[in-house]
Amino acid sequence: MSGLRRRSLLAAGGTAATAGLLGTGPVQAQALPRTAGAATGAGAAARRPGPYDDKVRALLARMTLEEKLGQLQQLPWTYNTGPGGPGTKEVEQAARQGRLGSVLNIFGARTTNALQKIAVEESRLGVPLLFGLDVIHGFWTTFPIPLAQAAGFDPRVAARDAEVSAKEARSNGVHWTFAPMMDVTHEPRWGRIAEGNGEDPYLTAAFAAAKVRAYQGADLSAADRIAACAKHFVAYGGAEGGRDYNTVDVSEARLRNLYLPPFRAAVDAGVATVMASFNTIGGVPAHANPRTLTDILKQEWSFDGMVVSDWNGVQELIPHGVAQDGAQAARLALRAGVDMEMTSTTMVTYGKRLVREGKISEQRVDDAVSRILRLKFALGLFARPYVDEGREIGAPTPEARAAARSAAARSMVLLKNEKGVLPVGRSVGAIAVVGPFGDSGDLLGTWVLPPAAQRFPAVTVLDAVRKAVPGGTVRYERGVAAEGDDISGIPAAVAAARSAGMTFVVVGEPAALSGEAAARSDIGLPGAQEKLIEAIARTGRPFAVVLVNGRPLTVGGWLDRAPAVLEAWHPGIEAGNAIADVLFGRVNPGGKLPVSFPRAVGQIPIHYNHENTGRPYDPDDKFTSKYLDLPDGPQFPFGHGLSYTTFRTGPPALSRDRIPVDALRRGGTVEVAATVTNTGPRPGDEVVQLYVHDRAAALAQPVRRLRGFRRVTLAPGGSRTVRFRLGAEDLGFFTHDPHGEFLLEPGAIDIYVGDSSAAEGRCTLSVT
Ligand code: NOJ
Repeated sequence: MSGLRRRSLLAAGGTAATAGLLGTGPVQAQALPRTAGAATGAGAAARRPGPYDDKVRALLARMTLEEKLGQLQQLPWTYNTGPGGPGTKEVEQAARQGRLGSVLNIFGARTTNALQKIAVEESRLGVPLLFGLDVIHGFWTTFPIPLAQAAGFDPRVAARDAEVSAKEARSNGVHWTFAPMMDVTHEPRWGRIAEGNGEDPYLTAAFAAAKVRAYQGADLSAADRIAACAKHFVAYGGAEGGRDYNTVDVSEARLRNLYLPPFRAAVDAGVATVMASFNTIGGVPAHANPRTLTDILKQEWSFDGMVVSDWNGVQELIPHGVAQDGAQAARLALRAGVDMEMTSTTMVTYGKRLVREGKISEQRVDDAVSRILRLKFALGLFARPYVDEGREIGAPTPEARAAARSAAARSMVLLKNEKGVLPVGRSVGAIAVVGPFGDSGDLLGTWVLPPAAQRFPAVTVLDAVRKAVPGGTVRYERGVAAEGDDISGIPAAVAAARSAGMTFVVVGEPAALSGEAAARSDIGLPGAQEKLIEAIARTGRPFAVVLVNGRPLTVGGWLDRAPAVLEAWHPGIEAGNAIADVLFGRVNPGGKLPVSFPRAVGQIPIHYNHENTGRPYDPDDKFTSKYLDLPDGPQFPFGHGLSYTTFRTGPPALSRDRIPVDALRRGGTVEVAATVTNTGPRPGDEVVQLYVHDRAAALAQPVRRLRGFRRVTLAPGGSRTVRFRLGAEDLGFFTHDPHGEFLLEPGAIDIYVGDSSAAEGRCTLSVT
């Protein structure tokens, strides 16, 4: 989709909301000048003047070098002790001395105000602190995990999460969230897949931009907005073997076509901050990488916001093996373009010495400080450093819960539904709920504030099913635990299923098995859960499997025996209610997979947007690309998802068959239209998806690339013609050129439109 415009919230002092929704890159070949910015502090040189420049300059002129270095420091608070907890004397002392710019893991109006008071009233210059927190899929109101949200194929789902989160967080004194995470990945073993939007850069870019805009709004100083953070920059999702923090080695073309586009979209949407990632690229840790942080992000993309390190990421340059000591780590990180150091303290400790020895220019320090101060001004912290304690939000509101429930239901994907087993009618008779997650609150997902998990656990499936059939018989048997091999509870679960008209088997992963540092080598259902499904299948009674998980799972042999499978992910605070909404048909599921589901771990990486080989898969030819012991392709492809109704998508039609390269370069577009019809008995949602494939290009291209999607709601018999516009950015690609050349070539482009990445409806555009 075309429509790229760039606007920076901090530079323009406002309206990031007007930036193009889905733009992800420059539209024509361009050789951007490289500068030696990293070492000289020229990161800010190309900036357009901004609204806070005079104030920042005036303040900077009054600061000592120690105070400047203090602004670069972020220290953790002990939020685990809860709001009003003791905090640490060290943090308070640093705030008092003006040796602290920011604090993370802190919230609560009273707690943040008390600490802020020390910075504002007791430090020499009274520079307010910036409070950051991981508000990833909710503050009090836990929304479904980001991977689930992506399955909604509707960026408004993510925007709603961000709006609710921003309001709750800001009222609790939080100014800044470390979200959205936008690490595209082809690695389902990687636990952090739960925090991103899956395997596609275009879908991720759309979600990243929507979430940034919704967190930040048009005015960062508003009482219901917070600064966003695009993370982790960059290619963190490429971790070898899916092991967290692991090495990445990636070509320039893959970096630019796969990993960078969501970050570019976030920058274009005005994201205030960017976080460096833990991985290396080609041996260079992201925290010490001037090419990615300064040349690409700050120079080429003119990002004038602030780069924060990840937790201890600067200090970790030592174990990475590129820095000998803390002083060298600080030097490498500052020169690369890190502006604020999270947790470790190398910059504040060694910065003065490095400047004195000429190893870091004071200009670079000033640039980093300016970026931080600009954000503090944009957030209105100098004018209003404190949050109104009387307006602190202490619990999810009914509206917030309703938004979380609708987001969760909208994110669910019906993987399989034979003979219309689902939805369940009220006349079904007795219902059995079995499985370790049937009566469990462990449905919130990976990133939840500990007090939120304690005070506002997820609604269980059992409670919601009981509510859905008032007066009905609902029996629960756990059967097996989420982990471990004890199968002694299976007979009771089987007995429950035998006496029920319908059984819901609720199985999956504990939330702790996904997220940071939660890689798995086996991504099947943990423990004896598959055995439980097999046992229920043997009863011959109707049943549906509900999966609650934070990553794609290998669904194994039980899939053939299960008549219906609903992928519910980790749905958040309203989990049970949203699952029941779908099981009983109050909501017709319309989500689609944002990531391929492999048949077996040995197939990984398996993703729809792979490149072709010279010997593409051919079942009749041994010497083609395949495994001897597995059928071709994933278990479920990217974009797959069923509904309680059926849809037909007609063939795509082009507004013109040919378009010259020059016309595309000048902003010309081609329209692709396809008509989708609800051919079944119920209203429902279909996601019409558009993919392109460049048949012959200078670099082998993905066999398909998503370049458009639209979720539409249709009444039975209803039709809608969905129109997509394709421009240069949809038809070209980045090459290996280090300056970011974007190539648009003449040739044939196949365009597929349909209901998944396996869509067959096709037309062909000639680029001349
Ligand atoms: C480490 C994680 O990688 C990052 O995503 C998070 O924001 C920080 N810790 C702060 O908690």
